[in-house]
Amino acid sequence: MLRSYRISVIGMGYVGLCTAIAFASKGYTVIASEMDAEKVDKINRGISPFYEPGLNEALTEALRSGRFKCTSNTEMAVLDTDITFITVGTPSKPDGSIDLHYVKESAKEVGSALSHKDSYHLVVVKSTVIPGTTENMVKPILEETSGKVCGADFGLCANPEFLREGSALYDTLNPDRIIIGEYDKRSGDILEAFYKEFYAEKTPPIIRTTPVNAELIKYANNAFLATKISFINTIANICERIPGADVTIVAKGIGLDKRIGPLFLNAGLGYGGSCLPKDLRALIQYSKTLGYEPKLLEAVEDVNKHQPQRAIELCRKLLGELKGRRIAVLGLAFKPNTDDMREAPSIAIIRQLLEEGAEVVAYDPAAMPNAKAIFKDSIKYANSAIECLRDADCCILVTEWDEFKKLKPEDFIQNMRRPILLDGRRIFDPKEFSQKIKFMAIGLGIGNPEKAEEKNLQYQK
Ligand code: UGA
Repeated sequence: MLRSYRISVIGMGYVGLCTAIAFASKGYTVIASEMDAEKVDKINRGISPFYEPGLNEALTEALRSGRFKCTSNTEMAVLDTDITFITVGTPSKPDGSIDLHYVKESAKEVGSALSHKDSYHLVVVKSTVIPGTTENMVKPILEETSGKVCGADFGLCANPEFLREGSALYDTLNPDRIIIGEYDKRSGDILEAFYKEFYAEKTPPIIRTTPVNAELIKYANNAFLATKISFINTIANICERIPGADVTIVAKGIGLDKRIGPLFLNAGLGYGGSCLPKDLRALIQYSKTLGYEPKLLEAVEDVNKHQPQRAIELCRKLLGELKGRRIAVLGLAFKPNTDDMREAPSIAIIRQLLEEGAEVVAYDPAAMPNAKAIFKDSIKYANSAIECLRDADCCILVTEWDEFKKLKPEDFIQNMRRPILLDGRRIFDPKEFSQKIKFMAIGLGIGNPEKAEEKNLQYQK
């Protein structure tokens, strides 16, 4: 298939690698650039630096096709291609504001490469950046280091992504929409033409706007998702105080309202990961620099900070004192299908358990190496869910991996010292579990869960 564009992607984090591999999978020649030599080597050997379902296979296939390679030479990557996507990380500074250091550095490298290029080139900022960054920071750096004029000699767009870890390749290939924040019309035309060729008949709605709006769409998107989660967790906290209430049923009920929708209404121990917490903090800080205190967003963050604490409070209700108790923690990653533990609720929960003198044994299907780097020998590590349960006084289900959903009350009865379970993600059937073991769950009214569930069933009929 004839492909009109050669692509370079700068920064091989989650977004960069998944985007690069998705482009290569559709026949594009892609040169990836990454400053970490170890990562470059791994990627070129077909090993993804992080766990993502299907990525190793897709990477191996891209390398085999000869259409993809990774280098630490950004200049070469830019010179040999027509469009450069900047996908470097934008971490948090200690005060929560965004650290644009990597974006600055990569813009300098891209700009100095452009000084050697005669033909027109399009630069696309895909990293999550606060409004104004593309026009007020990236553009001047590119112009200064290239000696060229944005709009005339090269193009510039902000083009945020919305892929989720755990389904990153699928999301890249099946987006809900494409946001193009164009510096000028020519830049937007080229990026739109590229995406229309890439997605063909599957092209989603495309919104063309200014870079500032594109940048803000990304933040507003993640802030809204975080708000939905903190909202349902607030309802969950209310439910827990009402005998017979169940947040899962409440979420189902409100989710059928088309204006609300059913997604992102799973109550639990709070959101984590490298995006929602960081982006919300950055938006709050940015908003304050504009002289506006975003009280709603601060409350969202506050609810989320306290949510892991609910696990401890409920654990205390189940066990009394935690000192000397052996607690099994099932799930460490910030969500299933990833080994990522950045800002995972499991970290706050385990630290608190240790502080209260509990003994912690933990298991996660993918995140064990990352967990060992964080907790070292302060906790015990199990090789399976069943091994984790063995001789425990209480189990906290923290991440809803599919393999945990298969556990039955008998697994807890047969392996634990005392079969006590706290379902932090609402994956177990309260009726079945509360009949057989001592059971509590986030967002489940504390009165008499058995009766409550019977009632709920009656109402459902
Ligand atoms: C998030 C967004 O969903 C993506 O659209 C965005 O592109 C990405 O951030 C980013 O900015 O790069 P991700 O961090 O991979 O993606 O994870 P999510 O699936 O959004 O989950 C975030 C957290 O919310 C997890 O800890 C998850 O357990 C929690 N969550 C999610 C809930 O507690 N309840 C829900 O109903 C949904």
